[in-house]
Amino acid sequence: MKNKMNDINQLLKNNRNWSESVKKEQPDFFNDLSKQQSPKYLWIGCADSRVPANQITGLAPGEVFVHRNIANVVSRNDFNCLSVLQYAVEVLKVEHIIVCGHYGCGGVIAALSRQKLGFIDNWLSNIKDVFLKHEMKFKPIESEQQRSDLLCELNVMEQVSNVCKTTIVQEAWERGQKLSVHGWIYSLQDGLLKDLNVTFESPQQVTDIYQYDCD
Ligand code: CO
Repeated sequence: MKNKMNDINQLLKNNRNWSESVKKEQPDFFNDLSKQQSPKYLWIGCADSRVPANQITGLAPGEVFVHRNIANVVSRNDFNCLSVLQYAVEVLKVEHIIVCGHYGCGGVIAALSRQKLGFIDNWLSNIKDVFLKHEMKFKPIESEQQRSDLLCELNVMEQVSNVCKTTIVQEAWERGQKLSVHGWIYSLQDGLLKDLNVTFESPQQVTDIYQYDCD
């Protein structure tokens, strides 16, 4: 019990040290940031503790708006994610949205299996849907690792497409707002990000049925 308390108090101590060191280097840092945030990027990533958005991209507080959930899913029924997206695009006017997955994602691996985990299975069915959509691509692959790597990549691509299909992004493009949507994947093995080259910058890149008529 005592040790547990020490662990948690350590975080507060770390925080005081961090705040001091930032102030020493940049005396106006907190004062300036407290007035407003104007991040250029929205990050939609996995909640996995090993994939912290700011650290792996070298961005300071104030530079990236972050939404994380299990397996970086963008679901049109998720008020939380859609609210983050709307605020980031319409109020903060971010220029880039990055959907970032990672290899070895527990959520993706679970979705690929028949393992029953409880309530979370409802969430993971979003990823089972991605698998079903691309089932043929998995047929020739036997290695569990390769199957999960492929689904991690396809999941990112699918969620990029889901971002682009939202009325939020569609309307931003219709207004002529500069907005790109990117799909990246992170390797836990070497800490490197890979661009999956699925960048969308205009509604013409989105599948026909989602190209709304503009008037
Ligand atoms: Co994950």
